[in-house]
Amino acid sequence: MIWIVGNKGMLGTELELRLSELGMESFGTDRDCDIADPAALEAAAAGKRVDWIVNCSAYTAVDRAEEEEELARRVNAAGVGALARLAARLGASLVHVSTDYVFDGAGTRPYREEDPIGPACAYGRTKAEGEALLRAAWDRHFIVRTAWLYGRHGKNFVYSMLKLMAEREELGVVADQVGSPTWARDLAGAIARIVESGSAAYGTYHFTDEGETSWYEFAREILRLALEARLLAREPRLRPLSTDQYPSKVRRPAYSVLSKEKIRSVLGIAPPDWRESLGRFIRDLRERGMPAA
Ligand SMILES: NC(=O)c1ccc[n+]([C@@H]2O[C@H](COP(=O)([O-])OP(=O)(O)OC[C@H]3O[C@@H](n4cnc5c(N)ncnc54)[C@H](OP(=O)(O)O)[C@@H]3O)[C@@H](O)[C@H]2O)c1
Repeated sequence: MIWIVGNKGMLGTELELRLSELGMESFGTDRDCDIADPAALEAAAAGKRVDWIVNCSAYTAVDRAEEEEELARRVNAAGVGALARLAARLGASLVHVSTDYVFDGAGTRPYREEDPIGPACAYGRTKAEGEALLRAAWDRHFIVRTAWLYGRHGKNFVYSMLKLMAEREELGVVADQVGSPTWARDLAGAIARIVESGSAAYGTYHFTDEGETSWYEFAREILRLALEARLLAREPRLRPLSTDQYPSKVRRPAYSVLSKEKIRSVLGIAPPDWRESLGRFIRDLRERGMPAA
């Protein structure tokens, strides 16, 4: 039995769907079981044979974390430690999702798993601490770092862009930060494969969709596909901005590309190209409509 912790979030929802498509038995918890409360975790697992735990829960409000670092730490660090200790007690393998924000973003080639970390913001610090607590508590773990996630459920860049593009004549988008847009469904598929394979190649892995781009180019592709799918009635102008021109509390990584070499060679998981996945996501939106807010 697989326990999805955070099954109501963007990734957790996709993972629940993917596991059910594969006929794999799972159950989920979210805010109803506070990850930082060991007694609540114990109670959620009681009476069940938990073979795998996948942690999709997190404090993900990157800007707000600057003012609420302790709250973020409670979920992203202490909570992960508590979950890891329970996994160890149950003898369950644990997949934990982490982030490109553990790196400082000053790199010039795709970050590898063993590259030194250096988080530059509160959110990144708390996620890095969570990784360390997990490694110390339980060795049967997979840490899967990802970046630039979008998906059907929850707030994300694609939805924000579609909304702004429908409302405005012109919008500016940051053009000097580079990363890899990643469909949550692709990441859910990769996690499901790790669990399904019963792999014992524990350790840290990177998974994003393949290829790299800037937020500006990502927005241009969203616009192109949305016009093609008739999700937008007219075409707003897009203007490239530099990071300095875009007000933000957080210094976001300039370079966030993660190397997928290890996950490909060790686990045999090959991420799809980001443009193809974005195309599938937009077609899915056209066919099914947007979920109710
Ligand atoms: N989104 C991205 O671009 C991105 C990029 C890199 C890495 N990641 C990582 O990917 C993972 C999944 O992200 P996501 O975007 O799917 O996140 P998400 O949509 O924010 O989902 C996280 C879920 O965890 C819940 N949660 C928060 N605090 C909790 C607690 N104390 N106990 C139990 N559940 C709690 C949230 O509830 P509420 O909604 O009520 O808070 C939410 O349902 C996270 O580890 C994140 O750090 C995300």
